[in-house]
Amino acid sequence: MSKRIDARNLNVYYSKFLAVEDVNINIEPRSVTAFIGPSGCGKTTFLRTINRMHEVIPGAYAEGELLLDGDNIYAPGVDPVNVRAMVGMVFQRPNPFPTMSIRDNILAGHRLNGARMSRSEADDIVERSLRGSNLWNEVKDRLDRPGSGLSGGQQQRLCIARTIAVSPDVILMDEPCSALDPISTLAIEDLINDLKEEYTVVIVTHNMQQAARVADKTAFFNIAGTGKPGKLIEYDDTSTIFSNPANEETQNYISGRFG
Ligand SMILES: Nc1ncnc2c1ncn2[C@@H]1O[C@H](COP(=O)(O)OP(=O)(O)OP(=O)(O)O)[C@@H](O)[C@H]1O
Ligand SMILES: [Mg+2]
Repeated sequence: MSKRIDARNLNVYYSKFLAVEDVNINIEPRSVTAFIGPSGCGKTTFLRTINRMHEVIPGAYAEGELLLDGDNIYAPGVDPVNVRAMVGMVFQRPNPFPTMSIRDNILAGHRLNGARMSRSEADDIVERSLRGSNLWNEVKDRLDRPGSGLSGGQQQRLCIARTIAVSPDVILMDEPCSALDPISTLAIEDLINDLKEEYTVVIVTHNMQQAARVADKTAFFNIAGTGKPGKLIEYDDTSTIFSNPANEETQNYISGRFG
């Protein structure tokens, strides 16, 4: 549970295009880290290398090392399917399986893995995951109704429940609140705060207040111009990034001068 992430000299490509250059970062277990920076600087691209989702795009690949508790997920022979079981991902738009019930949405990962379980084991997983995503009380009486019948904020918590159902070590979230109203956003932020008790959480956000509220550490990425690679400019305690950054580019970004 909850693994440390170390990127070493990580370069991320779309075919010949170097999208993110030479990332070196150490992310502690049981913490929340926010990735911030202007559009196109490579936040999503780098995030998706952490569970080997990047390479599902034709021509896309990464060079360098990405260690989970010291094990390089890009070492020869590592099965990306196993990596994705350890490193779950929540997307910008809530994407529950629309025709599946709430219950089946949560069990989907286990069924895909071919796991066989009794009714009571399945019930336990469903309840534990929904409690873990702060959704249980709202849906416990309608577990057999479709996931698509929930509000946007509830659907996003259902997606988080689906992610934690398979007991990952790391949870990646790419702008998980960008499609949500302010109340649902606060519910997700509370949840992120709870999740770090058990998981390493990495969240991409364009909302600086959100980064300041939820993240222990913040990483600022930037690009020098169109066609240039994104780079990690500064990584530090969130309070330092927002009050006393070392780099002028960070200062300009957080004070709203660009991006
Ligand atoms: N599928 C793709 N094929 C080719 N290039 C891509 C692809 N996806 C992203 N890129 C390019 O990689 C660079 C980084 O994009 P990325 O989506 O990671 O940025 P981002 O920081 O997440 O931006 P945003 O804040 O807008 O989500 C950009 O130049 C983008 O055009
Ligand atoms: Mg993005």
